[in-house]
Amino acid sequence: MRSAALAVLLIACNNGSAKPNPKPVPPPVKLADAGVAVVDPIGDPKSPQAIYARLCAPCHAADGKGYAADFAPSLVNPTFLESATDEFLRRSIIWGRPGTSMGAYGKALGGPLEDAEVDQLVAWIRAKGPKAQPLPVAAKGDPARGAPLYAQYCKTCHGDATTRGEAPHLANLQFLTVATDAFIRHAIVKGRPDTKMLAFGAMLTPQQTDDVVAFVRQLGQGAVAQELLPEPNGKEPLVINPKGKNPTWKARDNRFASVDDVAKAHAEKRKMIIIDARPPSDWRRVHIAGAVPIPYHDMKRVDEIIAKHKDAYVVAYCACPHHLSGLVVDELIKRGHKNAFVLDEGINLWHQKGYPVTAAPGVKPAAFEPHHHGTQPGHEGHGH
Ligand code: HEC
Ligand code: HEC
Repeated sequence: MRSAALAVLLIACNNGSAKPNPKPVPPPVKLADAGVAVVDPIGDPKSPQAIYARLCAPCHAADGKGYAADFAPSLVNPTFLESATDEFLRRSIIWGRPGTSMGAYGKALGGPLEDAEVDQLVAWIRAKGPKAQPLPVAAKGDPARGAPLYAQYCKTCHGDATTRGEAPHLANLQFLTVATDAFIRHAIVKGRPDTKMLAFGAMLTPQQTDDVVAFVRQLGQGAVAQELLPEPNGKEPLVINPKGKNPTWKARDNRFASVDDVAKAHAEKRKMIIIDARPPSDWRRVHIAGAVPIPYHDMKRVDEIIAKHKDAYVVAYCACPHHLSGLVVDELIKRGHKNAFVLDEGINLWHQKGYPVTAAPGVKPAAFEPHHHGTQPGHEGHGH
């Protein structure tokens, strides 16, 4: 015993004093021996972490802190989780936030997740932060007094009734349906640490805060719940203009086709496949005329393209603006397709420019800057 202790001491001395000793590495535990089932959680495609990695991480980032794609907020911020009930999370996932890049992931709107899977995902997100806590009840505010405060303190980031900014769109009907006044109030008072959302607790009096909440509540008034196009049946024709010639666009980095080039090919009746890579609920709100839904989470129809249409030009889009379309294009390329492209800036810019779409009644172009980064006005970031 004595010599062993001495040896350890000597080694410690030999390491010198520049670095602290590294933490001792515990011996590997054989889980099977310990009576624990050996499962590789990521290897199990039905585990919540695998579902999260596949469906959510492209936008909300692997660690849940958000902003892998534009506008996707943190899901694990402590002031968010302490104020969002499980029901808030569940409904946000099932119904999405129509008109933003947050699609509907529940089965009800054609999404990929069963209720039980949504519940597991909620529990998994919840485990990354605090439980929901009882919140102070918001007092009655005056929206008329809240309006100028909102314009002064909030609008640059959160937009107004019809136009969004870079922060979650508070006028969104789904948001206003799931968020209580107390939830909105909590976000204003405490902010979201380590994000752009400041704590306004010291800046606004309690009365002013309640007035802003009342104004936010009013942002959704006048918006009507949207009807959707019929559900896709999985048999939508893949190729538009099967007798046409191939497009001739020059893609940036041989990957990104511009909306103007694709719109030109569309108008010239070129032969191509246009893929909507978003969850089906988004396709049901609005899609590029002739686009077929091949959601990034269900790429079955890629088989058909590889088997029958390997020569056809393919362009995939999403709204985020590249992340989900990029996944579908990567799959096509991996399987040997030579002419698969991402629609640069996605459907929002296409829709804003007035190019042909098929839309549910009353759906207007999402009125926000496409993929706008930083402070340079007019700069359309091409960073991804
Ligand atoms: C294409 C990008 C994208 C993907 C994929 C995505 N989200 Fe979102 N999500 C967003 C955006 C953007 C918002 C904010 C909506 C807004 O801008 O108003 C959001 C909002 C949310 C919210 C509400 C957060 C809050 O603060 O109100 C939850 C919860 C959420 N997402 C969970 C998920 C989960 C779970 C998945 C995977 C099943 C997922 N999201 C997939 C983009 C995405
Ligand atoms: C500098 C930009 C900025 C300003 C100004 C700002 N916010 Fe935010 N706000 C954000 C961002 C970004 C988030 C999402 C943070 C995250 O990722 O958790 C957010 C989150 C929120 C949320 C939570 C939304 C949700 O779905 O979880 C509410 C409510 C909110 N802000 C209200 C306000 C109000 C009201 C004001 C004005 C008093 C305001 N914000 C000012 C950027 C801002």
